[in-house]
Amino acid sequence: MFEVKNRILKVIGEEANLNLTDNLDFGDYSTNIALKKKNPKDEANKIKDKLLNDEDLMKLVEKIEVAGPGFINFWIKKDGLIEELERIAKEKEEYGKSKTNEGKKVVVEYSSPNIAKPFTVGHLRSTLIGDAIANLLEVIGWKVYRDNHLGDWGTQFGKLIYMIKRFDSSRAENSLLREPSASSRSFSGSLHDLDLKKLVNMYVEFHKEAEKDKSLEDRAREEFKKLEQGDVENRKIWKFCIDISMKEFNHIYSKLGIKFTENEGKGYGESFFEDKMQPVIKELQDKGLLKEGKEGAKMIEFPEEKFPPLMILKKDGATLYSTRDLATDKFRLERYGRDVVIVNEVGAEQTLYFQQLFEVEKMLNWVKEGQRVHVRHGHFRFKDKKMSTRKGNVIWLDSVIRTAEEKANRIRLGKASEPAKIDSQVGIGALKWNELKRDPIGDIIFDWDEILNMEGNSGAYMQYTYARTQSVLEKAKKAKRKTEKNKFENLDLNSEESDLMRYLCRFGEISAIAAKSYSPNIVCNYLYNLAQKYNTFYNKHKMIGSEQEDFRLSLNMAVGQIIKNGLFVLGIDAPNKM
Ligand code: ARG
Repeated sequence: MFEVKNRILKVIGEEANLNLTDNLDFGDYSTNIALKKKNPKDEANKIKDKLLNDEDLMKLVEKIEVAGPGFINFWIKKDGLIEELERIAKEKEEYGKSKTNEGKKVVVEYSSPNIAKPFTVGHLRSTLIGDAIANLLEVIGWKVYRDNHLGDWGTQFGKLIYMIKRFDSSRAENSLLREPSASSRSFSGSLHDLDLKKLVNMYVEFHKEAEKDKSLEDRAREEFKKLEQGDVENRKIWKFCIDISMKEFNHIYSKLGIKFTENEGKGYGESFFEDKMQPVIKELQDKGLLKEGKEGAKMIEFPEEKFPPLMILKKDGATLYSTRDLATDKFRLERYGRDVVIVNEVGAEQTLYFQQLFEVEKMLNWVKEGQRVHVRHGHFRFKDKKMSTRKGNVIWLDSVIRTAEEKANRIRLGKASEPAKIDSQVGIGALKWNELKRDPIGDIIFDWDEILNMEGNSGAYMQYTYARTQSVLEKAKKAKRKTEKNKFENLDLNSEESDLMRYLCRFGEISAIAAKSYSPNIVCNYLYNLAQKYNTFYNKHKMIGSEQEDFRLSLNMAVGQIIKNGLFVLGIDAPNKM
């Protein structure tokens, strides 16, 4: 496929737009290069003549047509498509991978939940989209560093430490926690009957009380200051909060099959940069970028007030999220190389913040245009609920995952040999597909019926289609039929076969396009169309025992392979049976 594309571009110019068509009726590729010319149709015909005279190209291309106001459409030769089919059979899992970007490096940072706060569905979006983007970049040859920028530092710890200490000292009569434990041990003894849910309740309680009693915020600030200064007890409580949160998060990551590569798989959280901010503050100062704001806070102003100022130090000298982000990126550029691309998968509500951050990094001469990328995702809503950690209306992810597995169990058809494993693969696959199938920037309304719809655009539908290809192969094996053949001669393809074959061959190019635009949804869209084309073919034509049996079985196998490879990139399992 790349060969054809490159050959056409050689003739019409490397810069020309040459796109895969949306509709196979208009060929495999199409270009609009003549459209901008004065007489587009004449121009298109001239270019077409030139193309027809290129012998090398005409070995690859079946037909060239001028269409519409001046598009030029191309059909790939059947031989080329069949060769590609053979490549799929040969390369299997490796098919679609490329080395085009070898030598390039990228940090993909995703998930980044906050300690002692719940793992929200927003973080779920970041986790799944970020992981798919990391996979995609890897497939096209990038060296990918997978990082998790945990929110394990910041003023929320002052609030928690304050609450934990108070809870501890008035434990007996305090009903702060919904499920008070019978054995009330003091903090100095153990905090082991606290868990993440109770910590979150404390956080919620703090905000409720702070609305009435303004002094609470000051107390929390004091506790945070003590933490920053290394107070032993506060450090101990902080460490404890991290441990219980990480236990919960790691459980979710392992369920979802998510792994990070940096800092021994933990990722570099905000606290890692606690002692790495001073050099950044100094550099900002030396370069004259730090301005004194109200009451002595320090901020960065932007030329022509392009953005509102970005605060770097609070009036009491405390550092902020932004200060830690600057230290993080400095660290990354030093560690992975000045040319490393850094991608943050973070909710769209932080768009302005990341614009400010990237601008500062440019002002510091750290990065070039395009080297910093914010991949944004929209909100996630559960029909009519709105979520806010502070108010306590929180959705617990572990229960969402459990529900997905239970529902998967109900829709599954066959009797699998490892039902629990398959329920999990189907349930989690459904959650992932639901995330990945649309442009991340849009809002999602969470709807179980849509998520597990076997007939619609769902993970379950994709897995079901894959299982169908495998069951055909199984039957063929039982009937002792060959599924692989090296040469297909005198093939007379019907339109379903030919469409399917033409579509299959696009996989590599689709992956590259999706990676370049950080859009896993492009892969989903492709796979969904492929599955639909396959199911149409399946319903219309007999495979085993037909005249074209060899070819059809090969086609069937290739479809299975591409769905599997595609799902793999998205982080979704493809069980053989459902
Ligand atoms: N922990 C943050 C939050 O939940 C997201 C961190 C995003 N990454 C970053 N480098 N700022 O809002």
